[in-house]
Amino acid sequence: MGFKWMMMLVLCVLIGGSMGAKPNKPIDVPFGRNYEPSWAFDHIKYLNGGSEIQLSLDNRTGTGFQSKGSYLFGHFAMHIKMVAGDSAGTVTAFYLSSQNSEHDEIDFEFLGNKTGEPYILQTNVYTGGKGDKEQRIYLWFDPTKDYHTYSVLWNLYQIVFFVDEYPIRVFKNNKNLGIKFPFDQPMKIYSSLWEADDWATRGGLEKIDWSNAPFVASYKGFHIDGCESSVNAKFCANQGKSWWDQKEFQDLDTTQWRLLRRVRDKYTIYNYCTDKKRFSTMPKECKRNRDVPRNS
Ligand SMILES: *[C@@H]1O[C@H](CO)[C@@H](O)[C@H](O)[C@H]1NC(C)=O
Ligand SMILES: *[C@@H]1O[C@H](CO)[C@@H](O)[C@H](O)[C@H]1NC(C)=O
Repeated sequence: MGFKWMMMLVLCVLIGGSMGAKPNKPIDVPFGRNYEPSWAFDHIKYLNGGSEIQLSLDNRTGTGFQSKGSYLFGHFAMHIKMVAGDSAGTVTAFYLSSQNSEHDEIDFEFLGNKTGEPYILQTNVYTGGKGDKEQRIYLWFDPTKDYHTYSVLWNLYQIVFFVDEYPIRVFKNNKNLGIKFPFDQPMKIYSSLWEADDWATRGGLEKIDWSNAPFVASYKGFHIDGCESSVNAKFCANQGKSWWDQKEFQDLDTTQWRLLRRVRDKYTIYNYCTDKKRFSTMPKECKRNRDVPRNS
């Protein structure tokens, strides 16, 4: 290899190492712009002309909403304030999902807890109908005190889960390792609040206390910046041209990787990658996604 080529390679590696960027800042819009209720319409309350909503869960029902459109790739953000006080047995979910039997799904699930005890944020990725990739973290703040932003960046190269500006999980397109990646099934965005006291809090030990109902979660933002597709579309018309397809969004930068490592080291309480009881050999994607140290 000539010196010139060598220098170019070094340059590429240097630049490549710091090429990542933060997604475009979400733009807040009213609920009705992008979303509609899915069930138990009377358990959704609209505030400030629909720029803020509250979901409530009582002993009759939970509730949920979904995006009007389906999307292939993009950036999807929500500001959420979780159920405060005694939220044990409740689950607040924010997720993307396709609508067929072998579905793809990208999940945030917030598991409530007794007053003063920490929420758990569980994430998962389904590809072709198969999940089994749970990770659980504690948050570094109280998610019931203020709004925080939870978002997903999804392109042909990677799925990134963000909490505010911090990446907490990456799922790379590892097709070359023979691992399925969501790329051809448009997804809708969903959110819901429901009872799951058979598993959510301390593995189901803490039951929901209905005397504290209604349980209320608040939402703002409703940002969707994605390529809208019909449910059957295999391609997005703008494929390759949108901001999220560009080089700087194809990988995290070194700072983002460092932040992610901090989440792994300090806040992770469960990681399917290191669960030897479930997986005697570590799932193939784990190293590439840096769910585990690269030298482990
Ligand atoms: C549900 O809660 C309401 C209000 O607290 C109460 O009056 C009612 O008896 C409860 N119903 C059931 C089935 O527990
Ligand atoms: C709830 O609090 C207990 C005790 O601090 C903790 O072990 C658990 O991980 C917390 N979160 C959930 C959702 O169970």
